[in-house]
Amino acid sequence: MTTITLNDGTSIPQFGFGTWQIPDAEATPRVAEAFEAGYRHIDTAQMYGNESGVGRAIATSGLAREDIYITTKLNNNNHAPDRAIASIDDSLERLGLDYVDLFLIHWPLPMIDIDYVDTWHALEEIRGTGKARSIGVSSFTEENLRRVVASASIVPVVNQIEVHPYLSQTALRSVDADLGIATEAWSPLAQGQVFDDPALAAIAERLDRPVSAVVLAWHLHRGDIVFPKASSAARIRENFAAQDLKLGADDIAAIDALDQGRRIGPDPATFDWVPNEEV
Ligand SMILES: NC(=O)c1ccc[n+]([C@@H]2O[C@H](COP(=O)([O-])OP(=O)(O)OC[C@H]3O[C@@H](n4cnc5c(N)ncnc54)[C@H](OP(=O)(O)O)[C@@H]3O)[C@@H](O)[C@H]2O)c1
Repeated sequence: MTTITLNDGTSIPQFGFGTWQIPDAEATPRVAEAFEAGYRHIDTAQMYGNESGVGRAIATSGLAREDIYITTKLNNNNHAPDRAIASIDDSLERLGLDYVDLFLIHWPLPMIDIDYVDTWHALEEIRGTGKARSIGVSSFTEENLRRVVASASIVPVVNQIEVHPYLSQTALRSVDADLGIATEAWSPLAQGQVFDDPALAAIAERLDRPVSAVVLAWHLHRGDIVFPKASSAARIRENFAAQDLKLGADDIAAIDALDQGRRIGPDPATFDWVPNEEV
């Protein structure tokens, strides 16, 4: 499996399994199926409410800790530095781990009154304790990244952002690269919204592969880290198999041309949702 070396010298499997919208009880069998299929990188979050389910799958996997890569993310109600520092202990307890491989600020929340730069300093402290081997951010804009980098002693290792053929994020991916930050593509399949695209369907038919595989192969060709979510063992395996699909230059160019700047998720510049519940 291809790995990517991050700016702190650690490496991350380029292909992983995403767990958003998988309820806690179902996370255990789905993550177990992912491990069975060969995945070693799991993306979860405090917000997803399924860290315990992911943890049960880890505990029963029989896999060595150093052979798996686990990411979790700081929930929006935990931005205050003292809450951020306490919340990693809660995540580790739910996951049944001594450390996560990667801990991210889930959303920058520029509209709330806690500055994400202060939150970033809390993540730097968490990395110092060893409870997170690496730290990064999610859905950060260029302005958010530049503010963090200007005041940080640790540059985020990744920026996890919405990327798919309808939102190719060429400009922000290039900012990430200039700053030494790897791009992770969230909702890489646009949650299924690209599946009926005629250009993608034509490529898929010619190559005799599913549209999902064509889209995942495009992400991998660009060098981004991806973790599609799926709800059946068959789809989990099918997505993993996309790693062997290499697209030609014409197909890559045809998919690049599908960009419409169209988000399916919230705009990070205005997203300000903070949950009431304690997670
Ligand atoms: N940082 C953030 O704010 C953020 C935001 C969104 C997502 N993420 C991360 O990115 C991960 C992936 O994104 P996502 O879950 O939004 O969506 P996604 O991976 O782009 O798409 C998942 C959808 O595609 C379907 N699908 C998957 N594989 C398929 C296949 N081989 N054939 C047909 N349909 C298939 C799934 O259906 P079934 O489930 O019915 O199989 C599901 O409806 C998340 O799980 C999460 O870990 C992060």
